[in-house]
Amino acid sequence: MTTSTNQFLKPLTTGVNSTGNLEIGGCDLVELAEKYGTPLYVLDEETIRAVCRDYKKAFAKYPKIHMMYASKALCVSAVTKILDNEGFGFDTVSAGEIYTVYKAGVDMSHVLFNGNNKSFDELSLALELGVGRISVDNFFELALLNEIAQSKNKTVDILLRITPGIECHTHEYIQTGHLDSKFGFDLTQIDEAVELILNEYKNLKIHGLHAHIGSQIFETSIYPDEIEILVKEIARLDKKFGLKLDEINLGGGIGVKYTDFDNPPSIYDIGNLAVEKLFESVEKYGIDFPTVFLEPGRSIISTAGVTLYTVGSSKQVPHGKKYVAVDGGMADNPRPGMYQAMYSAEIVNKKEGDVPCETVTIAGRYCESGDILIPEIDLPQLCEGDILCVYNTGAYNYSMASNYNKVTKPAMVLVNNSQSDIIINRETLDDLISKEVIPNRLTK
Ligand code: LLP
Repeated sequence: MTTSTNQFLKPLTTGVNSTGNLEIGGCDLVELAEKYGTPLYVLDEETIRAVCRDYKKAFAKYPKIHMMYASKALCVSAVTKILDNEGFGFDTVSAGEIYTVYKAGVDMSHVLFNGNNKSFDELSLALELGVGRISVDNFFELALLNEIAQSKNKTVDILLRITPGIECHTHEYIQTGHLDSKFGFDLTQIDEAVELILNEYKNLKIHGLHAHIGSQIFETSIYPDEIEILVKEIARLDKKFGLKLDEINLGGGIGVKYTDFDNPPSIYDIGNLAVEKLFESVEKYGIDFPTVFLEPGRSIISTAGVTLYTVGSSKQVPHGKKYVAVDGGMADNPRPGMYQAMYSAEIVNKKEGDVPCETVTIAGRYCESGDILIPEIDLPQLCEGDILCVYNTGAYNYSMASNYNKVTKPAMVLVNNSQSDIIINRETLDDLISKEVIPNRLTK
């Protein structure tokens, strides 16, 4: 079995340098914390590029494969540049994500627009900027998109998002492919949608089917199960309507290792199984090889990211837990609160003879009892001013961050070859009020 980057807990370049401090990308994390302040998101370029290579190699035996990055995991201009440079396209789900990849100079024909309630304005923008594919989620959207396309005298290239009826073992909030899901057409509705496209919606051109089962999945059957259903549907639609579909998009979903208890599958194993299944089902159902798209998000960017926090107050509750509070929490990482997600952490400024000697709860700084980053972790004794590194925060942390308690969002730096570059500036207090308006009548 070949190991892939998503199976690591820490960025590939993580190590301890000669001063005893943790380093990533050749950068001393204490120095980064001093230079840029904390909380600080740190992204390791080498790890991002390594996982991109894993995906490309793992699926290389299939002749027509295209990788897209699900930018919802972390949609930042510099990250977009790296993924574009690695030959990835982009799955986007909002005007904001479309605009970000557009401004980063991406060839918009490599972009897919996805989502269960795209607005008139968002669809119009997608058409104006030449987004390559729109994955249509429902009947309302089919009609709306056709109307917009007609008014612009354009033909739009679409996929149909379908709900394949596959359950996976992940948190229920991040399952999407099961039958009673808010996403996509039920299998029983596909024929009606196709009839509308072929007979009424003349400004829509359908190329294929799109599905996504869920996220943070550890089962290796994630893609083979989908492939069976999608290929079978394509063959059936050809027979029934003479419709030649030649694209399938399998979505994302491969899991990552947040703690030592997680055992995510190798991308290489998943690639082998998927490619085998593609060859087998194409033959079984007698269709031409479709072009296959994958759109991983978490597994591309999660492992590359860590968050640095400064330790503040510590509190031993009599007969209770020991709480160690850091200067961030639920606003920069809402995942523990939302999904009971577990994280691992390590002290950055290691001291002589440091060994885990006590079990503590890492608490956030926000005014909520539920703002706990790590409920239980064994660490060396932490003191005020120590820097804590929480691993695997590259995905769905910054992209889900908020300004709760009116706290500024952290900065993000990209590290590589001992160099660190700011890729998101820390918000300022003025940023926090920059969109606010006091009506004149209140100032009198
Ligand atoms: N494609 C589609 C259509 C999706 O809905 C998603 C994720 C992906 C691709 C990427 O899936 P990934 O490879 O990242 O698993 N906020 C949650 C995750 C929500 C995922 C939503 N859809 C979390 O923090 O766990």
